[in-house]
Amino acid sequence: MAPPRRNVELKARDPHPERSLERARALGADDRGELRQRDTYFAAPNGRLKLREQEPGGAELIAYERSDAARARESRYRIVAVEDPAAVREALDAALGTVVVVDKRRHLLEWQGVRIHLDEVEGLGAFVELEGVADSASDLRREADLVARLREVLEIADDAIEAAGYADLLRAGANGARPAAEDGAEELLRAAEAVMARAHVPYSRFPVGAALRTTGGQVVAATNVENAAYPQGQCAEASAIGAMVAAGGTEIAEVAVVALHLDICPPCGGCRQRLSEFARPETPVHLGRPGGPRRTIALGELLPLGFTSEGLPG
Ligand code: THU
Repeated sequence: MAPPRRNVELKARDPHPERSLERARALGADDRGELRQRDTYFAAPNGRLKLREQEPGGAELIAYERSDAARARESRYRIVAVEDPAAVREALDAALGTVVVVDKRRHLLEWQGVRIHLDEVEGLGAFVELEGVADSASDLRREADLVARLREVLEIADDAIEAAGYADLLRAGANGARPAAEDGAEELLRAAEAVMARAHVPYSRFPVGAALRTTGGQVVAATNVENAAYPQGQCAEASAIGAMVAAGGTEIAEVAVVALHLDICPPCGGCRQRLSEFARPETPVHLGRPGGPRRTIALGELLPLGFTSEGLPG
């Protein structure tokens, strides 16, 4: 399989889209014109997955991951051309579920290999995105320098920079509220159930899937992984925490746990402690299955009087 492609990207709200366009043109950026894009996001168990339908241009399936950080950051992605977008959309919706649809008008320019997106996103407003596209040998320094230079030219202020993607922003609502707990729970339960199929459980034959939503809106999911030396086995929650940390997540906003052979699978004591390292007592933990049954309980109720770093010296 080809390695994922990479780029350095920066997204910011744009109070002056006209000015940004003028300045990018004045710098000598190639004007590639306007596109209409409709992105359908699916509940992927790992990273993010969207189907992009573009006018002019065809459709493509894009799988990607990146950390939610308010700065220029690395993104890794794979793009696959799609011949029959309606059929692919329906299949993925049936298998994974649709999280959100993002409609936008994009004015695309390119300067020294950096893509400049002047986006007007339905329901969100105007944004500018800079994407320094890297080849596989790059250490990303050149791309980061070019993005920084463009940032100066376009006068992108620190407080305009947006860490979350359009999909997360739309789901969070225009006022910055979190997604409705109900929808969030269902999406997480679906992600946990989907990944559960990959559990490595030759000894217990008890597959478990756990999905975490980070405070940045990213969803990661993972399974239990057992071992012939039984005590070395790892719970799904522990695997998901590892995946979250590796993906750049630092805080858990919501958790879901699904088990094949148990309607409501309470996390073991060790995992309650592991979750509490990255969550708060009020963090909701959804136990159950997509479509029900479901029980939502706060982490603090699962782990009263948990040990925290407050007790540690230094
Ligand atoms: N297990 C989990 O992965 N999460 C839980 O919340 C409970 C138990 C796993 C551990 C082991 O692989 C199997 O389920 C049976 O204990």
